Amino acid sequence: MRVPAKVNVQLAVGGLRPDGFHDLANVFLAVGLYDEVTATPSATLRLTASGEDAHRIPLDEDNLAARAARALAAHHRLGDLPVHLHITKDIPVAGGMAGGSADAAGALLACDTLWGTRTPHDELLALCADLGSDVPFSLVGGTALGRGRGERLTPLPTGGTFHWVFAVAEGGLSTPDVYRECDRLREEAGTGATAADVPTPEPAPALLDALRTGDPAALAPALANDLQPAALSLRPSLAATLTTGTSAGALAGLVSGSGPTCAFLAADAESAARIADALRSSGTCRTARTTQGPAHGATLV
Ligand code: C5P
Repeated sequence: MRVPAKVNVQLAVGGLRPDGFHDLANVFLAVGLYDEVTATPSATLRLTASGEDAHRIPLDEDNLAARAARALAAHHRLGDLPVHLHITKDIPVAGGMAGGSADAAGALLACDTLWGTRTPHDELLALCADLGSDVPFSLVGGTALGRGRGERLTPLPTGGTFHWVFAVAEGGLSTPDVYRECDRLREEAGTGATAADVPTPEPAPALLDALRTGDPAALAPALANDLQPAALSLRPSLAATLTTGTSAGALAGLVSGSGPTCAFLAADAESAARIADALRSSGTCRTARTTQGPAHGATLV
């Protein structure tokens, strides 16, 4: 299975809920950086990975891909079905681009195919939602609004292809840490951080219009990420990355999800290549990647 990364073109974060999650208006866009997950029969549950960053993925029983395989086996009462899952990693690890969620969605579909369980789409989505807030979107891809903690999806009409540059940082950021820092900053600012203090997050009409028309110049000013101040607070060096990309001609730049990857919207492919070159030679990131979105969700190769 080939599964895309995502960028959040809007991530509006509501207050902290009693269950420890935050209500979101999360506008996901799948982009053309992919992990591949391969399932083959095996005597035991085995997990392996390859790719530049593969050594940074914990290959234990708690890995989201292994949990996905176990969840599908349990759903069909198959017992502990032994399978070898191999992840070919190309999505930045712990980068705010839903790489772990992509691997979980890929493992779920790969096992469903290998085992011939033909799980209906709505049951797959429910299994994905149990695995993590971003996993359902990794399955469906395209462009979608995620409500609740991000797992309740509505597809969004999108009128064109957008060109992106991703500045990949050295090391990752922990998603729970970034949400905690967001709450801390809200408390510090005196606004409060609970669901009673923070208005219900809503998607911006201008953003939805820009997606519908496929106009990057209209999308740029609407890009927004409520987690960005928290990611910058934990990793102040991201400010220089954002400045580098926008100075090099990006229409806009923002932290991708909980970061530390920074995403830049470009006017076209040529501009994206120039921005990526500037980022690579700036010393403000580990590397830069160009790609397009929306991209298809998890797909059998
Ligand atoms: O759902 P997922 O496992 O990806 O969430 C990881 C962590 O991110 C949660 O345990 C929580 O701390 C935070 N989170 C949140 N609100 C969301 C999604 C995630 O606070 N809507």
